[in-house]
Amino acid sequence: MSPQFSRRAFFRGVVVLLSGAVLAACAPTPRGYSGERRPLPVPPLAEGELIDGRRTFRLDAGEINARILPDEDTPAWGFNGNHLGPTLLLPRGEEVQMEVHNGLGEMTTIHWHGMKLPAEMDGGPHQPIEPGETWTPTWTVDQPAATLWYHPHPHGLTGLHAYRGLAGLLYITDPESTALKIPQDYGVDDIPVVLMDHNFNEDGSLNEIEDPDLGLRGEVPTVNGITNATFTASTPRLRLRLLDASTMRFFNLRFSDGRPFQVIAADSGLLPEPVEVENIYLSPGERAEILVDLDVGEEVMLEAAEFPENLEVPEDEFSLDFGLGDHFELLQLRGPAESSPAPAALPATLIPAIDLDTEGAVEREFRLNTFEINGETMDMTRVDLIIDHDRPEIWTVSNENSDWIHNFHIHNAFFHVLSVEGTQAPIWTQGPKDTVALPPGASVRLAVSFGPYPDPGWAYMYHCHMLFHEDQGMMGQFVMLEPGQEVDLGEVYGHTAH
Ligand code: C2O
Ligand code: CU
Ligand code: CU
Repeated sequence: MSPQFSRRAFFRGVVVLLSGAVLAACAPTPRGYSGERRPLPVPPLAEGELIDGRRTFRLDAGEINARILPDEDTPAWGFNGNHLGPTLLLPRGEEVQMEVHNGLGEMTTIHWHGMKLPAEMDGGPHQPIEPGETWTPTWTVDQPAATLWYHPHPHGLTGLHAYRGLAGLLYITDPESTALKIPQDYGVDDIPVVLMDHNFNEDGSLNEIEDPDLGLRGEVPTVNGITNATFTASTPRLRLRLLDASTMRFFNLRFSDGRPFQVIAADSGLLPEPVEVENIYLSPGERAEILVDLDVGEEVMLEAAEFPENLEVPEDEFSLDFGLGDHFELLQLRGPAESSPAPAALPATLIPAIDLDTEGAVEREFRLNTFEINGETMDMTRVDLIIDHDRPEIWTVSNENSDWIHNFHIHNAFFHVLSVEGTQAPIWTQGPKDTVALPPGASVRLAVSFGPYPDPGWAYMYHCHMLFHEDQGMMGQFVMLEPGQEVDLGEVYGHTAH
């Protein structure tokens, strides 16, 4: 019996009898928790270099030795010599150029998740970067301040490549957000929090054995690429930019003492006003920005707690264990050593509320079922839908499985969740988003606005962002056109040059 199985069996056995708090205390310590806590690594902040009017960034994907665990090296992947990648600062309105060099032994791609940009620059499965090659997409950043991220997207291999550590954050800034009285000193009071999970072999190497149902869902959580991290604040208020960069895991985030905190941004940007909550759910690909206040010298733990009702996934021997009953310590926070003036009052309004005009909008339906969307799996040579106008659309996305969770992500777009039906599960849906979680039976109506980049030659993706599902084919493609244009994908689909 594997340790993983016995832990689950143990969990199932006691869950009926004990409260969550007692349970957490009883649960065996997952690997990576032993030994000293280490300071949270903060990825380097890259502002790029202005070359011919373009803000130019260099990303070198390569193999590295990562100190994910305290006492052993883990051969992994990353950018510019580190595990994971730098945080790239992208001011709205500027033209950017990425120089993505593939120093790995195999083809990969790098996708700018959450970015509205031309399909040719999107970094999806149609923009492979062969080993030794450099890909140089360029576009103009034209969307509100937000926390986006970049990650690999090679068809069928996204989960594995992401799991190895090819991920980083993109911060879009704009004058409106910079003027707000919220923490924005990178690494000081504005802290990136990249959540992942892994499994390790005895020698510290990554266990890359895919579970036939769950892919690379890990049992050991990491924050910014290490286990057991701690961060000591120097200010009384922190802004945490939370990203679920795991391949398969949903996180129910809260603080160990249940303290309330403020959510100020969702995937695609600031909320109209701060929202006070005691927990927030993230599924793979989703982001949230939160503000938390800390007293002098205190300690509090950012935790992943059990999902209430197992997110409505039946808890019987026939159902998959998505890890929704797991309880992890993620990141210890310590208050500042000395008292400082209380943080400024939070702005009541962060941005003007966005009201997408969806009258007469084109409506489309997406039925998620096991590894399929609308009864089909991904075909690189099939265009699933065409968008030949520049107005918002209404997409209804339903999870038809009664015992599986999914989520749904759309490229070159953001959306507002108009309604959630078919589930009682309290899923976070506020704010502008590009990825939404779907508990069993859930159906969401999304008002979707797309980036205005018609191009008959290249396709965008929509997919389940549980990467094992995506890699099994739970993905489709759309092409944006000018009215009257026709799709012309040329040689692209054979992975030859355009
Ligand atoms: Cu985060 Cu299609 O990607
Ligand atoms: Cu994306
Ligand atoms: Cu899925």
